[in-house]
Amino acid sequence: LEDRQVRALLDRMTLEEKVGQMNQYIAPIYARSIDSPDLAEKLDDLLARGLVGSFLFVTDAEEANALQEKASRARLGIPLIFGIDAVHGLAPVRGATIFPTPIGMAATFDDDLVERSAEITAHEMRATGMHWAFSPVLDVARDPRWGRTAETFGEDPLVVATMGRATVRGLQGPDRSRLRTLACLKHFLGPGVPLGGRNMGPVDVSERTLRGAFLPPFQAGVAAGALSVMAAYNDVNGVPSHASDELLTRILRREWGFRGFVVSDWEGIEMLHTTHHVAASQKDAIRQAVLAGVDMHMHGEGFSEPLLELVREGTVPAWRIDEAAGRILRVKHALGLFEQRYVDASRASSVLAAPGHLTVALEAARKSIVLLRNEGNRLPLRKNLKKILVTGPNADNTALLGDWSAPQPAENVITVLEGIRAAVSPATEVRFVNPGRVFEETDEALARAAEQARDADVAIVVLGENETRYDEAGVLDRRRRERTGGEGADRADLTLVGRQLELVQAVVATGTPTVVVLVNGRPLAIPWIAENVPAVLEAFEPGLVGGRAVAEVLFGDVSPSGRLPISIPRSVGQLPVHYNHPPSAEGAYVDESSAPLYAFGHGLSYTRFVYSHLRVPERIRQGEAAWVSVIVRNAGPREADEVVLMFVSDVVSSVTRPVRQLAGFQRVRLSPGESRVVHFRIPFDALALHDRRMARVVEPGRFEVSIGGLSRSWILE
Ligand code: IFM
Repeated sequence: LEDRQVRALLDRMTLEEKVGQMNQYIAPIYARSIDSPDLAEKLDDLLARGLVGSFLFVTDAEEANALQEKASRARLGIPLIFGIDAVHGLAPVRGATIFPTPIGMAATFDDDLVERSAEITAHEMRATGMHWAFSPVLDVARDPRWGRTAETFGEDPLVVATMGRATVRGLQGPDRSRLRTLACLKHFLGPGVPLGGRNMGPVDVSERTLRGAFLPPFQAGVAAGALSVMAAYNDVNGVPSHASDELLTRILRREWGFRGFVVSDWEGIEMLHTTHHVAASQKDAIRQAVLAGVDMHMHGEGFSEPLLELVREGTVPAWRIDEAAGRILRVKHALGLFEQRYVDASRASSVLAAPGHLTVALEAARKSIVLLRNEGNRLPLRKNLKKILVTGPNADNTALLGDWSAPQPAENVITVLEGIRAAVSPATEVRFVNPGRVFEETDEALARAAEQARDADVAIVVLGENETRYDEAGVLDRRRRERTGGEGADRADLTLVGRQLELVQAVVATGTPTVVVLVNGRPLAIPWIAENVPAVLEAFEPGLVGGRAVAEVLFGDVSPSGRLPISIPRSVGQLPVHYNHPPSAEGAYVDESSAPLYAFGHGLSYTRFVYSHLRVPERIRQGEAAWVSVIVRNAGPREADEVVLMFVSDVVSSVTRPVRQLAGFQRVRLSPGESRVVHFRIPFDALALHDRRMARVVEPGRFEVSIGGLSRSWILE
């Protein structure tokens, strides 16, 4: 629908129907189990009257078609748009491809791969009747206590922005008037640094930090063409995002030219009244949100009636409703829904987890694994060892799928144990000691693991956190004790939960060479392991086929090449530990260093890369980009990927700046002995700061570039 056609359609719509477009409801199937039981029945009536714009969590093609059919019978028959948390593949759907969670995708430092994975997600979504991914998560993660850290691309604004852009391109495709699916930038703004690390907690950060770190990824997502944005639950410097005209209208639309629509988070509008207390009533909460720029209400009754009253009273102008409904209708058109709202349900199963999709999921898992420690080159392991002990709560479970994942058919998932079994020679005995779920490990299980370790050639202990949000019967139960990561699972402590440390200590005490594999979404404080276990792999949550990738790294089919997109602290007391802090943040504690256990960018390889010939310009003038290059040589024995990170520091500036900032990254693949010149272009604007009057400027002076341990500087005139 062109603007003219949207206006013509709006002219035919009643006020109720326009407000109807602004309503999103939970899928009837969930309405029955987790919400008001009679909502499912009411929805039929609302659909018949054309008063529903969207659903979330419709998870199969037949259900999608049935709902579309109901909507088509309404007076104007406007199609529905279905949204879902497809944050790392279509994880909430049984049978779909599941990629590593975004923290692992970020560890690949491969934005082309992120784009391809998002494109696959888009195809699987359309095949199952869905159109709108609540992704990418563009929150810059600065407090790993926050349970949703795994859903982020980590602590660096450039990485978050680059991966966010790639996700938007993959989900939406190249043509903004013909979208593959719709992306949703979230959460606007700030939940990656909530007070105390608690979900929805207040965000109190300076305008300079907002402008310098938190807003740029969203601006990049808008520039990439994203046509929806989700408001954040939290407040920013005292103003809840859902009521922030400053964020939702002034910055998003007037500064950046955003042309899509804004959706609330789940009952986020209601929280203006119930949680933030900036609205005296539900009705006032709706008034504030709609006037600030929220166009669609996520889930729940009680939105339409008060909004209609507000319009009739003249408190919310009718044009604002036309504007919101018009924005939603335009996106539905760009998705092609007015021409074809149904899908061929019989096709879905051949698209979900198609072999080509799994190949990309495997590539992502391989590239996401970070080798944290490898004393004495313990890794890779030989495939023909006599006996391997595998133990640990995450060795043979589905924690590797990450949050939002629906229970998957067992034959689709490759656990770490299965990956190991498939990788070793048939003569190798792989002995698995299952210590039970976290919090349930018994003395007896720990003793059994130690006993089996004694005569093993190596012990592989798979630890971590974050079990699924579903119980054994497949019923959604987000409050499960074992679920230690994900939305609503924040932690005050970042050590291993349960008796996992005791388990690894018991195994190490036997003297058998030990390898720890971590399957977890947020950084874990593991100082004992970092000191006492010679080989440690951070696998994050590597997805559906992640167990195969872990085994390939353990046994040397793949050289690890991931790098940490987020720093790992030594202890909670050190937080925040992000690398890009101002210079004065480096003072020490009396009882702890201020340095993280493993810093952003850390990641070892089985080969050795040597950096040389770092070249930077001597001088650049105002407005010019800087070209930087370095030679990387594979001086080791095997072909491997290397992620090259390039940092810039502003040596003297009028306001304090991060000690260094990532200004570029590239992944290269080199054979033994091969060298490559790696070029980077630093756009002039990337050097900008917000000065004392908050003007965005690039100040003349010296800038220093560092890559792979080398550094050089140039003068900006
Ligand atoms: O998309 C999510 C959001 O990230 C958190 N609250 C619920 C939404 C819908 O599931």
